[in-house]
Amino acid sequence: MLFARPHLLGLEGLTAEEIDFLLDSAESFKEVSEREIKKVPALRGRTVVNLFYEASTRTRTSFEIAAKRLSADTINLSASASSAAKGETLTDTARNLAAMRPDAIVVRHPSSGAPDLLARHVDCPIINAGDGAHEHPTQALLDLLTIRERKGRIAGLTVAIVGDVLHSRVARSNLFGLLTMGAKVRFVGPPTLVPPGFSELGAEIVWDLHEGLKDVDVVMMLRIQRERMNGRYFSSLDEYSRLYCLSADAVARARKDVIILHPGPMNRGVEISSTVADGPYSVIMDQVTNGVAVRMAVLYVLVGRRKAGAEQGEGAVPIALAEASPRRAATGE
Ligand code: CP
Repeated sequence: MLFARPHLLGLEGLTAEEIDFLLDSAESFKEVSEREIKKVPALRGRTVVNLFYEASTRTRTSFEIAAKRLSADTINLSASASSAAKGETLTDTARNLAAMRPDAIVVRHPSSGAPDLLARHVDCPIINAGDGAHEHPTQALLDLLTIRERKGRIAGLTVAIVGDVLHSRVARSNLFGLLTMGAKVRFVGPPTLVPPGFSELGAEIVWDLHEGLKDVDVVMMLRIQRERMNGRYFSSLDEYSRLYCLSADAVARARKDVIILHPGPMNRGVEISSTVADGPYSVIMDQVTNGVAVRMAVLYVLVGRRKAGAEQGEGAVPIALAEASPRRAATGE
């Protein structure tokens, strides 16, 4: 029993063994996406609801692709197309969806804590697809998988997370995941977006970009989240990009075999130059590819486990790794 939790709400508090299990499971599922027929029957007859209250390209699409590749049925609901637009509360929406007996609800919401709230009101697995500035656990898992693939390890690496750390759920989930897996984390950005208090979370704080990139193994760039800003954090975007845009010159401060990540969407010319985004150190498209495998693994581990338990008349009990093996699901053995 290596991942016995009923939901995936964040990486905070997960053990290294749980994270390793999810990454190993994702690795097993990668092969399915290379087949001519990209489908396995693992979640046939199961229903996954994607409930997105914020815009998304990568997360929403990859959750839907992941569910379909596992043969689950998928329903997509956005805030504007749901009765939230008529004033229905999130809890009422979730209760009504739950009454239709879905097998999992994937939720993205602008408010931190929304997935935790849902988890207390419905009896199916809730998967956090990004809540406010709190957590984005599947993004961090796909980042960890990409780093592990490219570097062969996570422990002992130094990772610079650069930019708007203050508003970033990606930065928080990665901080928890990276520290748990034995990496060192350096937050880099202006003091307004990387407050000194963040060092209490376990990260080193550096306010100068060139100093912050010195000898790092991995650079993770963050988008300026203007939609979450309710004040002035820098005098102009021009000034921000002059000081913090990742240029080829800045990359030269890092280790020779550095890799560059960005969760997307990218603001080219603001936090990252096109030369770097499309250059030889960039693994940004690997991240997107790995997003499907990670979401297949998370859906399989949370939903497939319930299925097996129900079929065995055991309720929602976790099943052993051998029974839940993603490799068996992927190969159809
Ligand atoms: N990385 C990420 O969450 O991208 P989307 O907002 O497009 O889902």
